[in-house]
This record gives sequence, C-alpha cells and structure tokens, in this order.
Amino acid sequence: MKILITGATGMVGKNLIEHPVIAQNEILKPTRSEMDLSSKEQVETYLDTHRPDFVIHAAGRVGGIQANIKNPVAFLVDNVDINRNLIGACYKLGIKKMINLGTSCMYPRNAPNPLSEGMVLQGELEPTNEGYAIAKIMAQRLCHYIMKEDQSFHFKTMIPCNLYGRYDHFDPQNSHMIPAVIRKIHEALVNGCAEVEIWGSGEARREFMYAGDLADCVSKGLVNFETLPGVMNVGLGVDYSVNEYYQAVAEVVGYKGKFIHDLSKPVGMKQKLVSTKLAESWGWRSKVSLHSGIEKTLSYYLNLGK
Ligand SMILES: NC(=O)c1ccc[n+]([C@@H]2O[C@H](COP(=O)([O-])OP(=O)(O)OC[C@H]3O[C@@H](n4cnc5c(N)ncnc54)[C@H](OP(=O)(O)O)[C@@H]3O)[C@@H](O)[C@H]2O)c1
Repeated sequence: MKILITGATGMVGKNLIEHPVIAQNEILKPTRSEMDLSSKEQVETYLDTHRPDFVIHAAGRVGGIQANIKNPVAFLVDNVDINRNLIGACYKLGIKKMINLGTSCMYPRNAPNPLSEGMVLQGELEPTNEGYAIAKIMAQRLCHYIMKEDQSFHFKTMIPCNLYGRYDHFDPQNSHMIPAVIRKIHEALVNGCAEVEIWGSGEARREFMYAGDLADCVSKGLVNFETLPGVMNVGLGVDYSVNEYYQAVAEVVGYKGKFIHDLSKPVGMKQKLVSTKLAESWGWRSKVSLHSGIEKTLSYYLNLGK
C-alpha cells in the first residue's frame, strides 16, 4: 500500500515509520514545507498528485499544559485547520481509508474513569486544553459524519492516552510530563541536586503509554482494518500517580535525592485513564512496561546530539 503519514517528523510519526510492519509499505512522509496542512490548496494538490491508498493522520499542534494555557487560540485554530483540510481533502478526492489520531483530552473532565469511547461529548472539557480537545473532537465527528454520509469511506479514529518515547521533546518549554521528568531528574543527578520539585501534590493520576506501543496498534489496524472499530481507545488500562512516575524515572536514572511539591502550580485533570475493553476485544493490548519504556526513552535522550 501507499501510505501517507502526516506528522511524520513528530514523535508519533517517527515511531510509526520505524515500525517493521508499517515500514513494509510505500511511505509518503511529507514535511511541512512539502505539504503545509494549514493550507487547503497545498493539501489538495499534494493528495491529488500522490494519491495514497491509506492515510495515518498523526499531525497536529501538540504541547504540554503550559503551552496550551499560553496559546489557546493557536491550539484551537491550527488544529481545526489541519484536521479540516486533511479530512476534507481526502473526502473530496476519494481517498477512502484513514486512521485519525485523537487524544484522551477529548473526554470530559468529570467523566468517570476508565473513559469509554461513548463518553466523548458527554460533559464539560478540561479548561487547560479545551481548544486542542475541541479541534480533536471536531476531527472525530467529521470522520464519523463522512462515514455516515458515504459508507464507502472508512475514516476511523484511535484515541491514544498520553504518550512518551523515543523522538520525544525534551525542551522544558514544550515537553510533556515524562520527557520533562527525565530531563529534570537527569539534570538533578548530574548537578548533584538534593531535591527535585513536582508541580502540585503529585497525586493526580496519569496514563502514559510508550509511543512504540501505539505504532504497534496502528500496524495491527492497517492489517485488520475491516474489523478495527470506528472509534477506539489505545491505552495501557492502568494509570500511575505523578509521584509514581517521578519515582520510576528516578529508579531508572539512578537518582537518590528527594521530591518536594509546589502546590501553586496547575495540575490539570485528577485522573485520565482510558478504557481498554474495546481494544482488548478487538485483540490488541499494550506490551511495553513503564520501566522498559523509560529506559528506552532515557537512552534516546542521552544519545541526543551524539
Ligand atoms: N504526544 C502525546 O502524548 C499524544 C497523545 C495522544 C495523541 N497524540 C496525537 O498524536 C499526534 C502526533 O503527536 P506527537 O506527539 O507526535 O506531536 P509532535 O511530536 O509535536 O509532532 C507533530 C507533527 O505534526 C506536524 N505538524 C504540525 N503542524 C503542521 C502543519 N501545519 N503542517 C504539516 N505538519 C504539521 C509537525 O511538523 P513539524 O515538524 O513541521 O512541526 C510534526 O510532524 C497528534 O495528533 C496528537 O494529538 C499525541
């Protein structure tokens, strides 16, 4: 198959490209300068020229809690544009198979955990990343409407939990929790700091999956596309407290100092754990343990720039 991967320069995209099953196909991986998804014209021209058989949509404006709070307009507008242009162009040009990546931010802030697929749009969103979540919900609904309007189209959405892994972003301004913690604790070790600060009480619970696991699930989705549900969570099925993540990273890094808490900092949702029932009944389950995922990510971080 000729597969277009959007966001191929990103963390998820790079993990998809290096997956052995996905890599057996002809991969189109345009950079932003070759196909800027914020331009409807560029997207239509690229798709019309290259005519992929299958699209894996892994592009978006993505960022941590600070970036989302600071730039709510860009997180909403850029993601709406990207999703509308890509999904709309595929519909217009008759490109009929897509795996669209959503995010567990699409779930309401007060929905009971574990979050099952039917809970999207059943309540108020978490305000710290509302714009990003609205754009992702819009994309999933658009895929759903297209499949309803013309049943020859199969635009399916996977909703991954939080991810981390090789090719992650370690820059403190724009990183997600695990790479930020790896960097912080590694720097504390190297600089001999006795303490590391945690935002909030550390009791909030989070589900972080190794990005290679998502690539594994997407690869199964490619091979078994007919049976893949229209909307499906992809997660671990278990979560850990922020304190437990700090502890796990400290163990892998070899840091023996203590943790202190800054209770004035924003912490986001109390818990965000996706239900893995549907994925398991489809036949997929996450394989990489937290320690092993942190080891692989740390090794990638330590080799950056070498
Ligand atoms: N990371 C997570 O924890 C997580 C969790 C759940 C779901 N997801 C979803 O997975 C997808 C990828 O996330 P990620 O972590 O890989 O993010 P990332 O590392 O920031 O990568 C984002 C990708 O999107 C591309 N992109 C952004 N705007 C674009 C535009 N206007 N035109 C063309 N390309 C554009 C970026 O290209 P440049 O290199 O040019 O910037 C990059 O390749 C997103 O849809 C995200 O919502 C991520």
